Amino acid sequence: MRSDVDIWLEEIAERVLREVGIRESHAVLDFSCGSGHYAVPAARIVGEKGRVYALDKSRISLYKVAKRAKSEKLKNIHMINTSGELKIPLEDESIDVTLLYDVIHSHYFSVTSRRELLSEIYRISKYNALISVYPKHIDLEDIKYEIEKENFHFAGKLFKTLLHNRSLTQDYLLNFQRR
Ligand SMILES: C[S@@+](CC[C@H](N)C(=O)[O-])C[C@H]1O[C@@H](n2cnc3c(N)ncnc32)[C@H](O)[C@@H]1O
Repeated sequence: MRSDVDIWLEEIAERVLREVGIRESHAVLDFSCGSGHYAVPAARIVGEKGRVYALDKSRISLYKVAKRAKSEKLKNIHMINTSGELKIPLEDESIDVTLLYDVIHSHYFSVTSRRELLSEIYRISKYNALISVYPKHIDLEDIKYEIEKENFHFAGKLFKTLLHNRSLTQDYLLNFQRR
């Protein structure tokens, strides 16, 4: 029997990420990419002219991303293995889309470190870039308020089929635009 991960990667993910706003030739940062369940389909969408930066502090997770990228012959995913620091090793105003999926919550970040992270994301984002947030384990209105305070304009709430903890689920995403 096919797993939810297989169904997600083979049938659902690309459509959902296009609806989120990822396009061909975009530079995408998947901050805290985990095993790459979003980074890999994003790389298929952006194509040869685009690039996906898959950033995580877990080397094992990045190994899984690299393995999947290799099996799909995707050459446009660049792994960034950090030690969990909030400084992102990317140029100012170089990114079209940042994904913050199931990471921006108190399990990983305090309110202060979230503010620091958002300011880094602001720095690396192009003018009008998209920041898409999958707000798990946190109140939607609270995180919306925090992100708007850091100079991002709320661009919409989407209800989508998503993958969470290797299971398909229906959930909300919040999209923001860098001012
Ligand atoms: C729950 S997983 C979500 C993975 C992926 N975004 C998804 O939705 O499938 C959270 C990930 O965040 C990573 N992470 C947590 N804090 C981090 C930090 N400060 N810097 C980089 N990665 C971090 C963890 O290693 C883990 O892979």
